[in-house]
Amino acid sequence: MTNDLSGRVVAITGASSGIGEATALACVAAGASVSLAARRADRIEALAARITDEGGTAIAVRTDVSDERQARAFVEQTYEHLGRLDALVNNAGVMLLGPVAGANTDDWRRMIDANVYGVLYCSHAALPLMQQQGSGHIVNVSSVAGRIAAAGSAVYNLTKWGVNGFSEGLRQEALHSNIRVTIIEPGAVETELVDHNTDAVRAMAAKRMEGVKPLQATDIADAIVYALGQPEHVSINEVLIRPTRQAR
Ligand SMILES: NC(=O)c1ccc[n+]([C@@H]2O[C@H](COP(=O)([O-])OP(=O)(O)OC[C@H]3O[C@@H](n4cnc5c(N)ncnc54)[C@H](OP(=O)(O)O)[C@@H]3O)[C@@H](O)[C@H]2O)c1
Repeated sequence: MTNDLSGRVVAITGASSGIGEATALACVAAGASVSLAARRADRIEALAARITDEGGTAIAVRTDVSDERQARAFVEQTYEHLGRLDALVNNAGVMLLGPVAGANTDDWRRMIDANVYGVLYCSHAALPLMQQQGSGHIVNVSSVAGRIAAAGSAVYNLTKWGVNGFSEGLRQEALHSNIRVTIIEPGAVETELVDHNTDAVRAMAAKRMEGVKPLQATDIADAIVYALGQPEHVSINEVLIRPTRQAR
């Protein structure tokens, strides 16, 4: 049966809200144990408690994925506490939009550190464990912005383009160890992602999405569970999901 993740251990970054939180719940519903990473410890601890109260298995590890040591500790603690590492969902990310000219370059570093280095550090820590196990699956949450660039999004585009290039190169390396790599590319999803931007950027984003019913985090979580649930000889390499009325 596809979508049955019984007995699997899935580590999810950015599990304190949005797509990561929904993915954790969807993986648990499919039978997996989950390990949750994010900086907001209260949120992941509450989510882990909720999962545990409902009979599931979850641990929360406060993690800033842009710190190599913390990223490695998250992956290793998952393996130590839950006994396996079947899948790593690199979902943590930030999107700080605006033109290149006049940008606060700290925003660029925050995006590159979380969206790019976070994926690299967690993947680097997971690979030897998965190789030792003889199987594994790395899911990288990229974006439509990893395929289509737009004014006001150049650096976010850079990070997601990077995730896509890295994922394909890694896929070709890791297939020899029976490790699958999947890129998930959502369009507009209703989450907290845009909230960290200036009022002007938020107004622009809202205008761009006028008349578009956005995706829900659960829509993306379902796609991730679908990719994870495939038989071992099937590798879903890339999934691009837009709201029906999103043009670009
Ligand atoms: N929403 C969309 O329209 C959309 C579209 C395409 C792709 N995406 C991608 O989907 C992913 C999830 O975003 P979302 O939409 O679910 O937004 P969200 O609700 O803002 O979730 C982002 C998550 O990333 C975590 N995070 C950010 N920086 C981190 C860091 N340095 N270390 C650890 N965790 C960090 C946040 O947790 P803490 O703040 O607690 O650390 C939060 O859990 C992102 O990679 C985003 O680029 C979203």
